[in-house]
Amino acid sequence: MRFDILTLFPAMFSSPFQQSILAKAIEKGLIEVRTVNIRDFAMDKHQVVDDAPYGGGQGMVMKVEPIARAIEQVKLGNPSVRTVYLTPEGKRFNQETARELSSRSHLILLCGRYEGVDERVRELLVDEEISIGDYVLTGGELAAMVLIDAVSRFLPGVLGSDRSAEEDSFIGSLLEYPQYTRPPSFRGYEVPEVLLSGNHQAISGWRKKEALRRTLMRRPDLLNGASLSEEDKKILEEISREIVS
Ligand code: ADE
Repeated sequence: MRFDILTLFPAMFSSPFQQSILAKAIEKGLIEVRTVNIRDFAMDKHQVVDDAPYGGGQGMVMKVEPIARAIEQVKLGNPSVRTVYLTPEGKRFNQETARELSSRSHLILLCGRYEGVDERVRELLVDEEISIGDYVLTGGELAAMVLIDAVSRFLPGVLGSDRSAEEDSFIGSLLEYPQYTRPPSFRGYEVPEVLLSGNHQAISGWRKKEALRRTLMRRPDLLNGASLSEEDKKILEEISREIVS
């Protein structure tokens, strides 16, 4: 899968893709991440990419022409590429959207700065607007990194052959159960005995209950959309009884 990131700050992207899983994914050719400096597409001598808003007001607005030229250049190689604008006003990003986007072979990620982009960029050039959460970042760059990371995990081979993003939290609508490793005792805090028992049925029962408990305590909203079995519902009732008693 290929990502073309349109940004005024391409240097921000150098280190996140040189580490760990994403670096390996690039090395294996599973993902390709390119940055396109929007400033290279400004036509005037001073390479101006922003201007004061019509009608007055604070801040600067990113101009339409350099962005249009940058997008059109990427589209020369692939006219059907989808263009995503990262903005706090976009549709909220989640694991489902990450999975959907991973079925595409190529995305343009447009990163805004300042007071955002000229509205004509959004109307004429962008296919989809995405927000990574209800807070305002200094620009879309960090949001683009988050999106690439979450989308790449769904691509076959990125997490290694024995792991799949499908098994992670949120996909089955439950949070993950607690994990422990050696030592069995740390400052008097013991690993739950069942995990040391070697009894696989008891272990998977404990894990199911703890995943349900964690979801109920931290993210009860996820349980509404979850496909719960009769057994799961009974366990949830049991947990609720434990909480009140
Ligand atoms: N740009 C600034 N804030 C953002 C956010 N929360 N999500 C996506 N892009 C952004």
